[in-house]
Amino acid sequence: RDRYLVVGNPIQHSKSPFIHTEFAKSTGEQLVYDKQEVAIGNFTDFMTAFFSEGGKGCNVTVPFKEEAFHFASELTERAELAGAVNTLKRLEDGRILGDNTDGQGLVADLLANNVTLKGSRILLIGAGGAAKGVILPLLAHQPESITVTNRTAEKASALVEQFSVYAERYQSDVAAIEMAQATQSYDLIINSTAASLSGEYPAIPTEAIDNGTVVYDMAYGQGETSSNQWANSQGASKTIDGLGMLVGQAAESFYLWRGIRPEVKTVLIALRQSLA
Ligand code: ATR
Repeated sequence: RDRYLVVGNPIQHSKSPFIHTEFAKSTGEQLVYDKQEVAIGNFTDFMTAFFSEGGKGCNVTVPFKEEAFHFASELTERAELAGAVNTLKRLEDGRILGDNTDGQGLVADLLANNVTLKGSRILLIGAGGAAKGVILPLLAHQPESITVTNRTAEKASALVEQFSVYAERYQSDVAAIEMAQATQSYDLIINSTAASLSGEYPAIPTEAIDNGTVVYDMAYGQGETSSNQWANSQGASKTIDGLGMLVGQAAESFYLWRGIRPEVKTVLIALRQSLA
């Protein structure tokens, strides 16, 4: 059977083996998908061995996404722009393709939640790797604007500069503002920071949220994330956590490898139950 892996450090709690095994079952694809902790500094040697021994593909998570970017012999445009790779695929000729499916995972989950992207005004909080990975996939749906804001303002400006030419391609506006300046309400607010993981929420003005605002937190956990709790207390129309993005990025990786789009809904329900 074709072999796939997720590698990271740590990797113990990864849900990817469960997700991909369920995808394989539901699509009838013959594959095995395992997890592997790789020592820091050993990523390239490990991947070289995995692929030379016939491995077909790999998901890459913290802290190896940038090393995977350099390891790949070819990159998709979205991976190139993200500066990070979460999916490696062995091509027929032995070269290794690097992709980044995180942004498409987010977009798919937003659409599954009936969130309108075309023409919408989006506030993206955070300017790290997670934010970088989602801008191009969001732009492809032609939002009116993506406003990036970050605790460290210069990082938001740098991100906007990098993406301005792509914003033109999709006739969207991309701009950076300081967090305190986000005083008008947005259609969609996406929190890409890890604030929720330490029980915090981003310090944006309450005016950014009105009763038409959907708030998406890329984090997830048992119960509502702290960022989404805060958004609800400010009267957000709807809050969504990042579990669907996790399943969505997996589905997009599966599609890259197998050419089949798996059903995400039942897997998402099972994962949600396992968190409760
Ligand atoms: P990731 O790949 O998850 O995006 P990263 O590249 O380290 O990780 O970026 C983390 C992002 O979360 C940054 O935008 C960071 O803000 P700074 O650039 O000011 O460091 C943001 N962040 C992390 N913890 C935060 C918190 N408690 N409140 C607000 N922003 C936070």
